[in-house]
Amino acid sequence: MKVLGLESSCDETGIAIFDTNTGQMRQRLYSQIERHREYGGVVPELASRDHVVKTAPMIGELLDEIGGVQALDAIAYTRGPGLIGALMVGASIARGLAWALEKPVLGIHHMEGHLLAPMLEDNPPEFPFVALLVSGGHTLLVDARAIGNYRILGESLDDAVGEAFDKTAKLLDLPYPGGPLLAALADKVDASRFQFPRPMTNRPGLDFSFSGLKTAALNIIHQHSPLDETLKGEIAFAFQHAVVDTLRIKCSRAIDQTGYSRLVVAGGVGANRRLRQVLERLVQERGAQVFFPAPEYCTDNGAMIAYAGALRLSAGECDNNVFNVLPRWSLEDLGEVAVCEL
Ligand code: KG4
Ligand code: ZN
Repeated sequence: MKVLGLESSCDETGIAIFDTNTGQMRQRLYSQIERHREYGGVVPELASRDHVVKTAPMIGELLDEIGGVQALDAIAYTRGPGLIGALMVGASIARGLAWALEKPVLGIHHMEGHLLAPMLEDNPPEFPFVALLVSGGHTLLVDARAIGNYRILGESLDDAVGEAFDKTAKLLDLPYPGGPLLAALADKVDASRFQFPRPMTNRPGLDFSFSGLKTAALNIIHQHSPLDETLKGEIAFAFQHAVVDTLRIKCSRAIDQTGYSRLVVAGGVGANRRLRQVLERLVQERGAQVFFPAPEYCTDNGAMIAYAGALRLSAGECDNNVFNVLPRWSLEDLGEVAVCEL
């Protein structure tokens, strides 16, 4: 089965075709970052318009590679959560195509796409596992029991981790989205005179709060302005240390609470080098295993939607008769997939 996947929940147009028989994934990715940079964040209306312009030609390129539109068997798109206008573009194109071709179509939960992305790697995780999903919009610790059977163990009460990275990067005058740039600055330094708090680690529970770290950075910046490169590096280092340490502590607790020996890490911040190193060390100490997607599958992409779609469509799911997008949608509202053989 060849499944077309469309991702358009935010500022990346991701298109992929996954062949369940061969395991081959073809994909195209267009990032709108340059368009939004001058505004310092994503402008929803501009995002929608860019998806309108880019999606159809990108689908066309991939269809040429597989011998035309008739070779497609099914279509999956991101139904939510995300920006409503951006989601509508992907949903409309996916459903229009499915209607014209008379093929099954299915809306996919963006965070399930992230959660399943490590399964595209050579050594895929088996259920059950703890999933740490860290992106620009979400910070979730999930008890993942089977495909579609998810219980949220903890989540951020305010800023998501990626958002905290981006906001702190902005305070350091780094261009949007500053998360990876802040991380690169931090990685060049090996010590800092500053110490940031580890929010909500001194009490039980698995929820997070990251907005205080941005305020801590702001206070330091006010005290030390104007900042030179050394100071910026030290602030970035201390910030990244605090975030990663907080995530490590909560992952360790989630492993204790569930008794699981597998940890899956996904979402944009999953590409963070230090986070990967620290969690590798944690699972070694705990006699557990950690699974990451390839860095290009950590950030938003069409491949994860094509893959999640392939699993669900293979199990017979489709929603050809429903047309809605869900800007807010909990992972807990998904249904378990009975058959997950591809
Ligand atoms: O999953 P994603 O591409 O989009 C959402 O679904 O939100 O995640 C994007 C987020 C951004 O906040 C970006 O700054 C952050 O992931 N990010 C990173 C790194 N790479 C991406 N944050 C820290 N270190 C990185 N290496
Ligand atoms: Zn995402």
